[in-house]
Amino acid sequence: MPHYSTSSGSRLSRRDFLRQAGAGLAVLAAGSLAGSLTGCTIARADHVSGSAVPNDETTPPDLVLALRAAPGQAAILPGRETSVWRYSGEVVRGRADALAVLPGSYLGPTLRLNHGERVRIHLTNELPEPTIVHWHGLHLPEEADGHPRLAIAPGETYTYDFQVINRAGTYWYHPHPHGTTGPQVYAGLAGLLIVSDAEEQAAGLPSGEQDVSLVLQDRLFTADNQFSYPVQGMHGQMVGVIGDRILVNGRPDFALPVATRPYRLRILNGSNARIYRLGWQDGRPLQVIGTDGGLLERALTRHQVVLSPGERIELWVDLGPEPVGSELVLENQDYPSGESFPVARLQIARSETAPAALPDPLSVSQPHSEADAVNRGRPRAFPMELVRGRWLLNGREFEMAKVARNEVVRLGDLEIWEFVNESPHMAMPHPMHVHNVQFQVIGRELVLPQFEGQYQAVAGSLVDEGWKDTVLVMPGERVRILLKFEHYEGLYLYHCHNLEHEDMGMMRNYRIKA
Ligand code: C2O
Ligand code: CU
Ligand code: CU
Repeated sequence: MPHYSTSSGSRLSRRDFLRQAGAGLAVLAAGSLAGSLTGCTIARADHVSGSAVPNDETTPPDLVLALRAAPGQAAILPGRETSVWRYSGEVVRGRADALAVLPGSYLGPTLRLNHGERVRIHLTNELPEPTIVHWHGLHLPEEADGHPRLAIAPGETYTYDFQVINRAGTYWYHPHPHGTTGPQVYAGLAGLLIVSDAEEQAAGLPSGEQDVSLVLQDRLFTADNQFSYPVQGMHGQMVGVIGDRILVNGRPDFALPVATRPYRLRILNGSNARIYRLGWQDGRPLQVIGTDGGLLERALTRHQVVLSPGERIELWVDLGPEPVGSELVLENQDYPSGESFPVARLQIARSETAPAALPDPLSVSQPHSEADAVNRGRPRAFPMELVRGRWLLNGREFEMAKVARNEVVRLGDLEIWEFVNESPHMAMPHPMHVHNVQFQVIGRELVLPQFEGQYQAVAGSLVDEGWKDTVLVMPGERVRILLKFEHYEGLYLYHCHNLEHEDMGMMRNYRIKA
């Protein structure tokens, strides 16, 4: 029996309830019916605002999945296998292709969901300690968000019920128990969650084998091939855990045989603390087509892109002109050290012809306008500081169920938030993540001139465009974001996605109230 199962209907706002009770419900029902007849449940993007319908007994889910978190073994380095913690899954009901196993990887199965689909997921904890899963980047009822207060004990099952109302994009899932997220992710618990929708499918981007996901993680290994998580010590606490081996999709020295065609690369920084600055080894520019919340309107060109923990970036690359037998190498061009090392090798293994036009536009979205924010000119400011060895956010450490007065927002409001990274003594980069929303980055300002050098090393490589759920805030910097609280009331998190900082308490709740 599920330990916890609820219809989230009671948490829908009155406004949503009324909207659903009206014409919106009829549209949605027709959409779902059409979907189930064709075996495809993609709803049109313009139904999003009316489609936040949770599952209940009268609307059985389109898809039922079972996910298990358990100890296991993985062959990563030559020799002894590595003890890992991993997710495994199965489709209980619905499309069999909703789960795709990454071959030879400790990572969890990739969940492939369609916009509009109603999903139920039973998570069973077979670990020796409490855990809970968070669906990073998804817009969900609070009961489905994986807040640490919902962590389940060993042997228990938690049931998530939600409808996918996000745009197409590259999202991911990982544990979120308070104080142990860092070590649980490090042990291997993470997976991708890819959402597709009609607009994305119509764009005609590379698909199938030409749609490649790369999950970047770094690890320290012991002499007998075990993950080493150095918990104690000031160094680990300050910068977080940085590994000296780069794993891509759980494998070292990652190389992928590819054809002379265009590719779509979805890249997730699934590392605990390492910030990457990625570039092609031969110096060609990167074509960026998507960020955390899906496709951009138009592709952008960057020589390097900075990707901090939790962030995703999507690239398009045409391998058409490459000679068979050559390789194109994606490097980490580390800063400030300046050293470069390969992250992934694309080995041109066979010749194939395929059209190579990059769709333009890639997608259409309706960005919010700063002028419409309820606190225009008065951003809600959240300082990040290190005070006597404690990481603080909004002047406080994490409290499981509490919010401060300035952490309550109104359902339906568009707000400006400002992350303020001005601790003069121990300023560090902090990738700031907000649950339950996709936001826009609307401004950056370096306010402490002593950090000018560090800032310049990344300034031209940040990708702030499109929809984001995680944004890197450099030392001495203030970053402003524009975010709207829609559909669901409840308690959600905002925090630093450096997992060691998060576990140390650099995390807070915010509450959405009608
Ligand atoms: Cu990916 Cu609250 O985190
Ligand atoms: Cu998240
Ligand atoms: Cu941090």
